[in-house]
Amino acid sequence: MVQPIAIILLAVVIAPGLAACSSSVINATYYCVGVLSGNPAAAAATDVRGLAAAAINITADKAASTLRVISYLVDELSICRGYYAYMLQSLAIVAADFGAGRFENASFEMSGNATGYPQACDILLFAGNSHKDPVFKENAENDLLVRLASSILNLLTGARI
Ligand SMILES: *[C@@H]1O[C@H](CO)[C@@H](O)[C@H](O)[C@H]1NC(C)=O
Ligand SMILES: *[C@@H]1O[C@H](CO)[C@@H](O)[C@H](O)[C@H]1NC(C)=O
Ligand SMILES: *[C@@H]1O[C@H](CO)[C@@H](O)[C@H](O)[C@H]1NC(C)=O
Ligand SMILES: *[C@@H]1O[C@H](CO)[C@@H](O)[C@H](O)[C@H]1NC(C)=O
Repeated sequence: MVQPIAIILLAVVIAPGLAACSSSVINATYYCVGVLSGNPAAAAATDVRGLAAAAINITADKAASTLRVISYLVDELSICRGYYAYMLQSLAIVAADFGAGRFENASFEMSGNATGYPQACDILLFAGNSHKDPVFKENAENDLLVRLASSILNLLTGARI
């Protein structure tokens, strides 16, 4: 025989509108109704045990999905780390040329190599599997700065912008 509390829980899962938060257990269930009611196994659960099994399953699925997102992010961010390492190397070449008075060379290296990396990182994360861009702001700032520096360098060398 199904226990009264299970009947109430079931009613909460199937018809959230009927929920009456009179006990702490029901109240707790009421607050996760949104997550549970969208899940077939949870909606089909006829007792607390079935509901618990579904809740464990939902949580495991969510953790697995988050693990996937983090793994994609680690891969994509490690490519971005490479981009920014290249950008720094290229900027070191620019600075060395500039310091030695080789403005044309500095300008050439700057516009030809140093400028593309922040956008490349952005595009990678945008088009990637993680669908997350935790360095969007940094990419935008770097892109702005490198373009600004490149434009000023072009002014100095008289190159067309
Ligand atoms: C239900 O839980 C919430 C959050 O813990 C609490 O603020 C609220 O007072 C509880 N309601 C009842 C009827 O227990
Ligand atoms: C959750 O349940 C579904 C459907 O039964 C199953 O395909 C999935 O593998 C389960 N997830 C976990 C993490 O056990
Ligand atoms: C850009 O700069 C990096 C770092 O200095 C270098 O490894 C790479 O070959 C350069 N690429 C081009 C196209 O000049
Ligand atoms: C600077 O640019 C000129 C012309 O492109 C090139 O011949 C020269 O090798 C460059 N110098 C350096 C140090 O890169």
